[in-house]
Order: sequence, then C-alpha cells, then structure tokens
Amino acid sequence: MQRLLYISTARAIITQDVIDDILRVSRRNNAAVGVTGLLIVGGKRFLQVLEGTDLAVAQTFDRIQRDPRHFAMVSLARQTITERTFGSWSMGYQAGGNATSGESAAAMAALIAPIDDPMLRGYFTGFVDLHMKAA
Ligand SMILES: Cc1cc2nc3c(=O)[nH]c(=O)nc-3n(C[C@H](O)[C@H](O)[C@H](O)COP(=O)(O)O)c2cc1C
Repeated sequence: MQRLLYISTARAIITQDVIDDILRVSRRNNAAVGVTGLLIVGGKRFLQVLEGTDLAVAQTFDRIQRDPRHFAMVSLARQTITERTFGSWSMGYQAGGNATSGESAAAMAALIAPIDDPMLRGYFTGFVDLHMKAA
C-alpha cells in the first residue's frame, strides 16, 4: 500500500459549497476503490493524505491533479505503508479557521494525535502553524 501527502493552492476562495462537492465525490469514489485519507483546508491551501493500493492512490491522485479548482500541487511524501493511519475515513475533513481557538485547536489535536509517523505529524503541525492561525 501507499500513502501520499500533498499540498496545493485553490484558484479561488474555498467556499463551503466547493468543500461539500469535493467531499461528496471523494467519499463516493474513494470508498469504491478502498482509498482512505484526510483533507485539511486552511486559507487557500489544501493538505491531503491518500492511502490505498498503489494503483488506487495513483489513479486518484492523477484525477485530483487535473482538477482546475487548485494548482501548484506539491507532493510532500510518498511512503510504502503496511497499515493505514486514516483507515476509518474514505475522506476525513477538518476546516481551517483559527486553529488557536478552542474548538478548532481541539479538533486538530484530535486529528494529529493518532499519527505516529513523525514526518507526517510534522507536516500537519507545520500546516496548522502556517495556514490555520488567526488572520
Ligand atoms: C483538494 C481536492 C481534493 C480531492 N480529493 C479527491 C479524492 O480524494 N478522491 C476523488 O475521487 N476525488 C477527489 N477530488 C476531486 C477530483 O479532482 C475529481 O473532480 C473527481 O475525482 C472526479 O470524479 P468523477 O469523475 O466521479 O466526477 C479532489 C479535488 C480537490 C480539489
């Protein structure tokens, strides 16, 4: 199995409608091919992890890469894994906003807590620091 982590930038302000559409389609497609993962939105940035068979992750990533709603996609990590970290979600989601405020900070802490891979944890905490603090 493979785990892939990337960051990208939205072309326009990310509205709730856009997020709802991405999550609806992602959850349907990912469930069908056994892809699991997590999507975090902070400001105009997306941080997403995809886990699954090499083929399913590659095909999903290919499709996402062609999506005109974002650009400047940068792969941060590509790892061969034996166990999933986000196995309970066809696509988990956490909104940005002010991660230093109680509710958001607690939600992020809960998401990051089960990540035992230090590199992955580092990217998540870094993303929160850069893109999810008070404007
Ligand atoms: C940030 C972002 C994350 C996405 N994540 C996924 C995903 O995990 N799985 C997926 O199938 N599509 C995802 N999409 C949507 C794809 O780009 C594409 O629109 C969709 O897979 C097309 O599916 P359809 O052919 O079934 O309509 C994502 C799009 C964006 C902008």
